[in-house]
Amino acid sequence: MPLNRLEIDDFRCIERASLALDSRYNLFVGENASGKTSLLEAIFFLGRGRSFRTRRLDRLVRQGRDEFRLVGWVGGEGPATVLGIAGSREGTEIRVGGGSAPSTASLAEHFPPQIIDPDVHKLLEEGPTRRRRFLDWGVFHVEHSFLDVWQRYHRALRQRNAALRQHASRFSIEAWDQELLQAGERLDVLRREYLAQLAEPLHAVGTALLGLEVTVAYSSGWAQDDTFIAALEKSRERDGRLGITHVGPHRADISIRVGGQLAKERVSRGQQKLLASALILAQLRVQETLHPGRGALLLDDPAAELDGTRLTALLGVVRGLASQLFVTSLRPELESLGEPGAMFHVEHGRIRTHDR
Ligand SMILES: Nc1ncnc2c1ncn2[C@@H]1O[C@H](COP(=O)(O)OP(=O)(O)OP(=O)(O)O)[C@@H](O)[C@H]1O
Ligand SMILES: [Mg+2]
Repeated sequence: MPLNRLEIDDFRCIERASLALDSRYNLFVGENASGKTSLLEAIFFLGRGRSFRTRRLDRLVRQGRDEFRLVGWVGGEGPATVLGIAGSREGTEIRVGGGSAPSTASLAEHFPPQIIDPDVHKLLEEGPTRRRRFLDWGVFHVEHSFLDVWQRYHRALRQRNAALRQHASRFSIEAWDQELLQAGERLDVLRREYLAQLAEPLHAVGTALLGLEVTVAYSSGWAQDDTFIAALEKSRERDGRLGITHVGPHRADISIRVGGQLAKERVSRGQQKLLASALILAQLRVQETLHPGRGALLLDDPAAELDGTRLTALLGVVRGLASQLFVTSLRPELESLGEPGAMFHVEHGRIRTHDR
């Protein structure tokens, strides 16, 4: 659902802001260090319960203050749902629709933002954690049971690892294996099914952005020829010795190919940005077909690293999405996105609506 109104207190350099947002396209313009990314970070935090820049909450609280507050009104035709977050070095408190919320997932059910920022290439460059998170975010939106399966798997994994570290008896370690296997195999199936759904939109977006065939292959987190149960059995001795579970969906990864070659070995920096963006945009397309009117895309400084032609291609795909857009730019012109429904000027952490 679109975010219609946002109030910010003491978040990064923003002391206070109250914004009436457009349900389609919002543009934030300002100089370097004016607070544009901070604003997107606040919007992202409201839907994800975390930042895309830091894990340290104290960094997000405005210097000299103890707590930040974000309140957002989300909704289509009917009455709005209010999302609220208070954050301090001690942690976050989340409220959804007036009641306290058990987890960040309940924020994302109402407002699930995705981001493409100048760090988007890390999705390809860094280790598998980001790619698993990307994958799981996608599955979360297409399969309702996913969150429960994911939590069951990780609970069993934590318990099994604790038992391994304490050199517990084989019996106590195996007590966790059944749950680990059951939830792990289900997780594996859900991820594979999701990737099959992603293939077609990825092909379309990849071709539009790079002019090349983009494909993704999944590796389960254990040897391809084994079943999970066989792989776990083979790893048992090593697991016991090193006190950690070496195989399973927590070790899964996706490998990305362009024009048949591994992306890591082939593409330039600008292409990396386009490729990582293609993955995210394809994911949004899948999400939009299942939950029309719910998606949101944050684009931080889309022009960075891209030449005119590539930027036009990227913005062309973005314009074709049904998701609500929040875009930052150093300059007010991003012609390929059309006229913004609402435009804001950001200056020293203050945000002004642009009057037309
Ligand atoms: N906790 C904080 N309290 C106060 N100011 C902060 C805090 N964290 C960051 N800042 C400052 O906020 C300012 C704005 O940062 P931000 O990254 O939002 O700028 P930006 O407009 O995105 O700039 P650029 O165009 O260079 O990306 C910076 O000067 C930064 O030092
Ligand atoms: Mg910035």
